[in-house]
Amino acid sequence: MIQQIDHIAIAVSDLDEAAAFFAGQLGLEVGGIETVEEQKTKVAFIQVGQVRIELVQPTEPDSPVGKFIAKRGEGIHHIALRTDGIEQELSGLADKGVRLIDKEPKVGAHDARIAFVHPKSSHGVLLELCQPSK
Ligand code: CO
Repeated sequence: MIQQIDHIAIAVSDLDEAAAFFAGQLGLEVGGIETVEEQKTKVAFIQVGQVRIELVQPTEPDSPVGKFIAKRGEGIHHIALRTDGIEQELSGLADKGVRLIDKEPKVGAHDARIAFVHPKSSHGVLLELCQPSK
């Protein structure tokens, strides 16, 4: 079941500079920086009430987020929906003919299990399903 928006991700070209903006100008608390090998990114999360902002910087230009920034510049990259059953969610979506980028969950930041839904199916927005680790 989808429970809530887990995070909204912003693609940035310089994570330190972006973190300094959110901490310094907005007074928000930015968590530690984590490298996500599988996605070729490094990320930092900012808790804002129930929802987090994820700052995502590509570690290689030839990565999905690197290509995104090259093509469109910095900006909102994806919206993540939290689920308590990512496998059921993915098989349900596949049964309904929804295009999935990841048919199986992958390991994301903080060991969450994540999978992306193709924006062609979700009206131009890249959706991430995200099941936090216990
Ligand atoms: Co994310």
